[in-house]
Amino acid sequence: MKTIIEPFRIKTVEPIRLTTMEERQAFIKETHYNLFSLHSDDVMIDLLTDSGTAAMSSAQWAAIMNGDESYAGSPSFGRFEKAVKNLMSFKHIIPTHQGRAAEAILFSILGGAGKRIPSNTHFDTTRGNIEISGAIADDLVIEAGKDPSFIHPFKGNMDLEKLESYLQDFEELVPCVMLTITNNAGGGQPASMDNIRKTADLAAKFNKPFFIDGCRFAENAYFIQQREREFEDESIVEIVRTMFSFADGMTMSAKKDAFANIGGWLALNDDGLAQQARNRLIQTEGFPTYGGLAGRDLDAIAQGLKEIVDDDYLRYRIRTNEYISEGLDSMGIPVMKPAGGHAVFIDARKWLDHIEPLSYPGQSLAVALYEMGGIRGCEIGTVMFGISPDGTESAATMDLVRLAMPRRVYTQSHADYIVEVFEELTEIKQSLPGYRIVEQAPVMRHFTAKFEPKN
Ligand code: F0G
Repeated sequence: MKTIIEPFRIKTVEPIRLTTMEERQAFIKETHYNLFSLHSDDVMIDLLTDSGTAAMSSAQWAAIMNGDESYAGSPSFGRFEKAVKNLMSFKHIIPTHQGRAAEAILFSILGGAGKRIPSNTHFDTTRGNIEISGAIADDLVIEAGKDPSFIHPFKGNMDLEKLESYLQDFEELVPCVMLTITNNAGGGQPASMDNIRKTADLAAKFNKPFFIDGCRFAENAYFIQQREREFEDESIVEIVRTMFSFADGMTMSAKKDAFANIGGWLALNDDGLAQQARNRLIQTEGFPTYGGLAGRDLDAIAQGLKEIVDDDYLRYRIRTNEYISEGLDSMGIPVMKPAGGHAVFIDARKWLDHIEPLSYPGQSLAVALYEMGGIRGCEIGTVMFGISPDGTESAATMDLVRLAMPRRVYTQSHADYIVEVFEELTEIKQSLPGYRIVEQAPVMRHFTAKFEPKN
């Protein structure tokens, strides 16, 4: 059968309020062309993030009713811990309210002035938590991972040669090696099992603990099953277990590949490190059997982890992005190739080549997608990264728009609609304006900046 159907049916629905283009033009003008400032009920298809936006299953909602809210020793924690250990057999599982809280705890212990921490590409919050500790975050992804149009099965791989010479150069300064799977900041691209193992081997050779940022571990495992011959006959669960068997610990946002709306964890094998992490947890998150979450959240995660490793779900999940990506590609719209696990990335700088980078082609495309079709994506380019701490501005490496897919939320007709909106934009793309920023915050300006079209 050609069509890969959504492997679920819908029991509860959330209406989408359909708006007209005129209404949307007024809404976005009111927010000074900042998509973060829109009311989400004025958005028809919200692709701002895949984080915390999943549709939970009936089994997850049922699990929520079994949540036990005891301060200490809740059976919800037991179920959560068991579900995590079933996939990732780390000794200590420490719940946190989301991924960045796990990172903050880890780097408050391992970070510090003068230290350097390598990864394929650190996600923004990971980088932020490393830098706030005084340490330096370094990205060592393979060269192929930096070219949006270059096709490679594992564009999230660590550059092993670079990592080896990095570890030789900075041996004394490196407290750990990290790997983000999938590589979100590099387009949701996977790392191969071979690369995960070799990264771990290098870390071990230099006596450094190896940590995985595992937010999208199931998507990464699916790519391994599909693209790495040795694993084609293995189940997702087996692949996941193998992936994490090489690591000494992990950070996780359960808002991604655990189908939960909130939650995360820090996992560690080292007893001493775990002791320090729990001490910190008690101060910043909560008691080690709830860690900033309600008992019911822990149960939602425990059930979500059983559902996320399903082949049929992952096939539908990855295919949705490929399908949109192929639709755009066939119209000559430059997209990141291959499609990422959780998102489709459009190269706005290349597509809207009449808008120079400092007039924000990514922002222009993101605004146009909203005006034309009520779709909310996210600029990942010069607005987000183009400003340095001293206030000088320069073009970011790329000007992309990310369309991140919430899990189990949208159907194939939504995907078709997204492609059609691009089709309409193709007709008018030459008339899309550049933007200037009229007001901005000194840091993380993309969240609150006010824009004005240039014509
Ligand atoms: N690591 C990666 C790879 C992520 O993508 C994120 C979040 C985090 C860590 C932090 O987790 O949000 O639970 O604190 N990414 C979201 C996104 C926000 O939209 O890409 P968190």
